[in-house]
Amino acid sequence: MEDYHCLAFLVVLLILRFRLPKKHVYAVPSADAPIPWIGTILELYKDGVTFLRKSRERYGPVYTLTVGHQRVTVATHKEGVMRIMKDKSLENNINIWLFESLGGVESGTITRQIFRLLSTSVLRSFSARGITQLAPLYSDCVIHETTSFINAHKGERISLIEFVSFTIYRAVSVALFGPKFPLDTQLDLQCIIYYFPRLLTPRMFLPRTPVEARARVISALDSFIKENWNQKNGFPGAADAGNDLLRTLRSAHLTSQTELAILFAFIIGLHINTLRVTCWFFALLIHHPTALIAVRDEVDRLIDEEHSGSLNSLLSSPSKAVGKNSLPFLDSALNEVLRLCVLPVLVRQASSDIHLALDGDRSVVLKEGQYIVADGHVLNMAEDVFEDPERFKFDRFTKYDDRQGIPTPPLVSAFGSGPNICKGQDFAIYEMKVLVIVCLRMYDFTGETLTGNKLPSCCPKASTTLPTPVKYLEEDVYLRFNERIHPT
Ligand code: HEM
Repeated sequence: MEDYHCLAFLVVLLILRFRLPKKHVYAVPSADAPIPWIGTILELYKDGVTFLRKSRERYGPVYTLTVGHQRVTVATHKEGVMRIMKDKSLENNINIWLFESLGGVESGTITRQIFRLLSTSVLRSFSARGITQLAPLYSDCVIHETTSFINAHKGERISLIEFVSFTIYRAVSVALFGPKFPLDTQLDLQCIIYYFPRLLTPRMFLPRTPVEARARVISALDSFIKENWNQKNGFPGAADAGNDLLRTLRSAHLTSQTELAILFAFIIGLHINTLRVTCWFFALLIHHPTALIAVRDEVDRLIDEEHSGSLNSLLSSPSKAVGKNSLPFLDSALNEVLRLCVLPVLVRQASSDIHLALDGDRSVVLKEGQYIVADGHVLNMAEDVFEDPERFKFDRFTKYDDRQGIPTPPLVSAFGSGPNICKGQDFAIYEMKVLVIVCLRMYDFTGETLTGNKLPSCCPKASTTLPTPVKYLEEDVYLRFNERIHPT
């Protein structure tokens, strides 16, 4: 009887084996540049964005590239991109490498476990719910820092990059860690963000500017913690989010050097993308006056009609200021800024040998350690999906309404997706919107580049953006602010 069962079981397996469609491993085309070995790296360095777009046009949505000695598969279609981002057997090892290189500690110091601990703390404290307590502190600081910066530069042209770095860095730092935070680290932070690739690949003959700036910031953080931290009460005047972060780090019982390296890397990570996107947000609004006026009128209407003319009242209820549907033009404009200036080109590494289905027809085999890339930017710029994709159309996203049967086109989120999705995205959106709302409500502003160029020309070199996903603003914009008078 047992033999009979075994035989029946084998027959069923055999039938299933032949009836189930075979996983089709198709031949992935190679998009390598003609010059062997270094050709592809040179192309990526010269103008990575154009190279990736042309590769898709020529070879279809999935192709391979040889980068150094690695064969890397690239997927550029919605299904493939989503599957890569969501697959649990693919790891995002770049984040840990970034943290170690930024913090200046040896490889292997920051483990996956420590990174997860930190990431969970960010998710807990910086999500929409977590920022309710942080919001009034942050918005008060933004108003204070904006007015003091503009008053201190009365009658002068103001650098957009300096203005955004100054206001956001100071406001976030005071809100998160209290008024005793060493704010004089702001210029060092700006320098580190500008020369950031040099911290990742230290080269002997380049100036050590960012390395020295990092040492100064870490030393200032060390003194700040020693003088102000209290395990029970946290930092005086700080939001729960900042205290939670340090408590989480302390619970890992790290050496003081590792703890400071992680805190430093976190602070850079907290600001590097947000500062760049905010600069693009201002630059694009300034260069599209129709957009600026429409967004400003919408902000005015909300404040005047629902908050009796009080900016503070709007900002103290974060769900109104930044919640969906309150400011549809502002939301759409921000979505458009993110679509244009963020490169969600996400790199993953196979943690074991795997067979990965990228869509119904295509699947690839990856050996342990092999890399695969989800190129969401090419998809976000696809002409068949977005009409006139290079243009900034501030109201592009207002016409879609999934509930009304007008679905949003397949946009790859600037914040990624799946297990490694950005844990600070709610806070990032909140931060950026508050600064823009404050400036639109309190000031009329115009801006120009020194060369008279129209922004954005958006032609980033891979080396200037990677491994952060936001394009550099190639030219600074110089602003002039004039106070607006509102009838009382
Ligand atoms: C506009 C600003 C920002 C952009 C465009 C951005 C974008 C991203 C992207 C693309 C990823 C990688 C997602 C992936 O690999 O699938 C990421 C990861 C992450 N981001 Fe952001 N980010 C921003 C701001 C922030 C802020 C303000 C914070 C902290 C409060 C933050 C914390 C994180 C963390 C902790 C991760 C790692 C998630 C993980 O692997 O568990 N981000 N971000």
